Amino acid sequence: MIVSGSASQTLAAALARELDEPLATPAYDRFPDGELLAAVPGFAGDRAVIVASTVSSDAHLELLQLQDAVREAGAEEVVTILPYMGYARQDDAFEEGHPISARAVARAISTGADRVLTVNPHETAVCDFFEPSATPVDAAHLLADPLPETIEEPVFVSPDEGAIDLAETVRDAYGDRVDGAAGEVDYFEKVRRSGTEVEITPSDVDVAGRDVVVVDDIIATGSTMSEAVAVCRERGVSRVFVTCVHPLLARNAYAKLSSAGVEAIYGTDTIERSVSAVSVAPALADRL
Ligand code: R5P
Repeated sequence: MIVSGSASQTLAAALARELDEPLATPAYDRFPDGELLAAVPGFAGDRAVIVASTVSSDAHLELLQLQDAVREAGAEEVVTILPYMGYARQDDAFEEGHPISARAVARAISTGADRVLTVNPHETAVCDFFEPSATPVDAAHLLADPLPETIEEPVFVSPDEGAIDLAETVRDAYGDRVDGAAGEVDYFEKVRRSGTEVEITPSDVDVAGRDVVVVDDIIATGSTMSEAVAVCRERGVSRVFVTCVHPLLARNAYAKLSSAGVEAIYGTDTIERSVSAVSVAPALADRL
């Protein structure tokens, strides 16, 4: 049976359809002191597949309760899918005395799971924090699906070197889709000044008059992508599309990107937003 966390209902339903498995309907309560109660009345079966993006601290807690609830209801195997793993970017201690938050949450989730899958974690090394280690699922190729077929002389760019593989994957998948119109791949240099300020230095690739697709794993505050869009605009690009696996789009990220002059924003349903144009359900179903 598929069980959805409250932040992943659309994806869980898509996965249930993909696998032809029943979908449970969790029930929620909140006590006067603010504590949450997430339950799974009507759970039946030997295997529970819980689909829960941990987009907030409440979502983390909710996942732990769902894991416990299905076990109480008799599940012999609990597979936990983290379409988006919150805290994954805190994969190291920032300074002495700081926690490795990704490890802390991974350990907590591991206690209730027999198996964990997570989609395009920021660094795959984060999978080793789970016990046993989690399986990363690469959904980057799906990002080519919503891109328009009319992209002119495309250049696929990542805002930093770390995301170049994603840009290559999207370029190749787009090339397969649009009859070989592969396009160039490049990356910008990025320096993060603070949580919301980044500086992007463009590469030498000639983007004037061409369409650019900027690819990243996540859009969080939108600072990285809006800087990348602004840099492209300054260099006379025709249109800039941005695409990412995890469209977190916190606070004013959407507005920032729009005012920077982006043509369109695309993401997957690992985080359910208005820009979630493609589902990772088929990629997950392949791994179950
Ligand atoms: C960092 O290396 C990541 O790949 C993303 O570029 C970053 O986390 C995006 O964050 P924001 O949208 O806040 O700039």
